[in-house]
Amino acid sequence: MTVLVTGGAGFVGSNLALMFKRDHADRRVVALDNLRRRGSELALPRLRAGGVEFQHGDIRNPEDLAEVGAFDLLLECSAEPSVHAGYDGSPDYLIHTNLVGTKNCLEAARRHRADTVFLSTSRVYPIDPLRALALETEGARLVPKRGAKHLHGFSAAGVSTDFTLAGHRSLYGATKLCSEHLIEEYAAAYGMRAVVNRCGVLTGPWQMGKVDQGFIVLWASRHLFGKPLAYMGFGGHGHQVRDLLHVADLYDLLRVQVRDIDSHRGQVYNVGGGLGCSVSLAELTAMCAARTGDVSPKIASDPNTRAADIPYYVTDNALVTARTGWAPRRTVDDILDDVFQWLRDHRAALEPILA
Ligand SMILES: NC(=O)c1ccc[n+]([C@@H]2O[C@H](COP(=O)([O-])OP(=O)(O)OC[C@H]3O[C@@H](n4cnc5c(N)ncnc54)[C@H](O)[C@@H]3O)[C@@H](O)[C@H]2O)c1
Repeated sequence: MTVLVTGGAGFVGSNLALMFKRDHADRRVVALDNLRRRGSELALPRLRAGGVEFQHGDIRNPEDLAEVGAFDLLLECSAEPSVHAGYDGSPDYLIHTNLVGTKNCLEAARRHRADTVFLSTSRVYPIDPLRALALETEGARLVPKRGAKHLHGFSAAGVSTDFTLAGHRSLYGATKLCSEHLIEEYAAAYGMRAVVNRCGVLTGPWQMGKVDQGFIVLWASRHLFGKPLAYMGFGGHGHQVRDLLHVADLYDLLRVQVRDIDSHRGQVYNVGGGLGCSVSLAELTAMCAARTGDVSPKIASDPNTRAADIPYYVTDNALVTARTGWAPRRTVDDILDDVFQWLRDHRAALEPILA
């Protein structure tokens, strides 16, 4: 069996490829990546050491995918993953990679009759309804307003797949939702066995965090390296909340899905850390400072809200947990412990990229 991991030198792809190979030594695992993301080149020695084949390639080129040869399982992890992509210029790269590239991956999977796991995003849910959630401030975070009548698909547990899909959702979110539709059509037209996971924030070691994507690593590394940060949007207080999923927890879910693909084919799941693994930026500052000797860098306040920013997103995992038995295990503290350890262990290589 050959597993193709597209975006296999990226944060999620490299971690999944290595964990998959660790657990299935007899299988060929190929990581295909065009190394566009700064820092993804650091994955190459890790992949080699873990027995994963690297193929330099671009999913925008069907020829690059053809060079992999036959494969049975596709883990589609290549993307321009920033929700802010395209706003300050052309959306060309975003659309060509996240939509046309995904189509190319699906075509390759169809030809080889491979099963597919697609990493979609919570950002398929539209921005205006997410901004309209009834919230109140409690301590240093926003929480669902008690006693309020909440929008369908939103509760104290978070956002479920019943939440509306009507409205604009960012160019990034649109490419992912269009890809989900294509996958549904490939399943109907060609019998493709595919699972879609709409992931909230994913994080962990080897995420090359930057201002527009990967905020946990951005926050941790700026604390460690003493570089400035800013609370951006929603008044600039840092009270906005996200749930976090450790990439190792994501892998545990994918194992279940791949092992019993017939039970999960055609499913669309919301997947995230859930309320128990959620954090506001202000809370994150305190947790990072606790790991750097109570030192925080200068944190500016920018009240302006960017076009794609949302104040609150927590995943309601009820459906995926009911269908798979899976639930996230790692806490925010576990995640930060792992990330700080990794930053300290690889500081010389990481500081020029992350700082
Ligand atoms: N990180 C998150 O919080 C998060 C949340 C939800 C969904 N996702 C999805 O998970 C997947 C993986 O994201 P990530 O966090 O690992 O991002 P990443 O940027 O770390 O990894 C993506 C990889 O894809 C590669 N790539 C980009 N364009 C390519 C192309 N045209 N051809 C081949 N390779 C290309 C990049 O070089 C990079 O190594 C993406 O589909 C993303 O949308 C991520």
